Amino acid sequence: MEITDILRAEYIPQIAAIEKEAFPDTAWSEKMLLDELSNPLAHYFVCVKSDVVLAYGGLHEVADEGQITNVAVKKDKRRCGLASKILDAMLEFAVSAGLFELTLEVKESNFAARALYKNFGFTETGLRKNYYGGIENAVLMTLALKP
Ligand SMILES: CC(C)(COP(=O)(O)OP(=O)(O)OC[C@H]1O[C@@H](n2cnc3c(N)ncnc32)[C@H](O)[C@@H]1OP(=O)(O)O)[C@@H](O)C(=O)NCCC(=O)NCCS
Repeated sequence: MEITDILRAEYIPQIAAIEKEAFPDTAWSEKMLLDELSNPLAHYFVCVKSDVVLAYGGLHEVADEGQITNVAVKKDKRRCGLASKILDAMLEFAVSAGLFELTLEVKESNFAARALYKNFGFTETGLRKNYYGGIENAVLMTLALKP
């Protein structure tokens, strides 16, 4: 098992399948993910074992802030520490790139993800009312990074 920071085109169908499983209402399509290949601000971290994608996470570098776009783990591989490994890789990148903070939005009902991010020191800094489909609130989470 390795975590690579290279998003390969051949991973994208598998990533799109995990997206659908993880985010049935808001999944990124293969086309959206393919567009990320040519987005210089996008950075992906992919956990792969024998060419099978197990987990991934992406962030966009916007000025000196990192906006986490997605983190997801294949359903049958959850609770094995893979999301934590992806976040470790993201944090290492963010610090070496000189970013001053990481931010993300997560569904208020997503207690697993909120716990994961809190473990990494993220704090809940805001609430966007009815952000998802006009019905579900988004919690804004932020992690300040030391230079
Ligand atoms: C949230 C998600 C990424 C966690 O991935 P994971 O690989 O299972 O997470 P880890 O094994 O690294 O767990 C790290 C910590 O997260 C928290 N956590 C993870 N899953 C949890 C769950 N089902 N319930 C409560 N806490 C949970 C725990 O604090 C856990 O630490 P512990 O195992 O020592 O208790 C995964 O459940 C997933 O892909 N969910 C669907 C997509 C999603 O919601 N992504 C985040 C949206 S921004």
